[in-house]
Amino acid sequence: MYQIAPSLLSADFVNLERDIRMVEQAGAHMLHIDVMDGRFVPNITIGVPVVRAIKRVATTPCDVHLMIVEPEKFIDAFCNAGADILTVHVEATPHVHRALQAIRQRGVKAGLALNPHTPLSVLDELWSDVDLILIMSVNPGFGGQAFIEQTLDKLQRLRQMLESRGLADKVMVEVDGGVKLDNIDQVAAAGANVLVSGSGIFKAAHPPQMIRDMNDKLKALHPSQAVP
Ligand code: DX5
Ligand code: ZN
Repeated sequence: MYQIAPSLLSADFVNLERDIRMVEQAGAHMLHIDVMDGRFVPNITIGVPVVRAIKRVATTPCDVHLMIVEPEKFIDAFCNAGADILTVHVEATPHVHRALQAIRQRGVKAGLALNPHTPLSVLDELWSDVDLILIMSVNPGFGGQAFIEQTLDKLQRLRQMLESRGLADKVMVEVDGGVKLDNIDQVAAAGANVLVSGSGIFKAAHPPQMIRDMNDKLKALHPSQAVP
């Protein structure tokens, strides 16, 4: 089964609880929460207290995407706030291995995100340390950007690497940025099984119907890349 993770960055922050219930009832599988610090990326979004508040109303897992420098300093805080998946950027710290270990020690799934320019070879010494690999399909920082087409090739190569290592059923592959109804099946067929979509869902005329349409498109694909 493929999973849809609406990015709450494009939700209505005044009505966050309403929007969370709306996407969950429509069939979203997890909530993607974008944390930005104004240093790793040129934008500031939400922090620990808001993640804690989301957790109070969420009935699906909280997928927390840290776009912050030195993420290891905040791993405990975000785990305590209720992250079910906690993803750090490989470009954001010299201590990637330490950060991934710290996340797993808290019983939380450890994710590693790669910017568009970052080669898959950074994963070479980390295959056994990740539960999720997040492939950025835009430069992180903002919702509503165009999908970088080169990502499809990167996803295909990542899928092959996972299969050749016997990890296809153990590691989730998430794609984030510019995923919409018109390309979601292409992105999934290339090798992703967790599809983040922000503006594609929340800026739609009818967001619940959009989630149902996305799920229908994904169900029509061969379920060879089921989420572990
Ligand atoms: C970008 C964020 C994304 C963003 C996706 O830095 O990590 O999660 O909200 O938004 P869309 O789907 O609008 O590209
Ligand atoms: Zn994100």
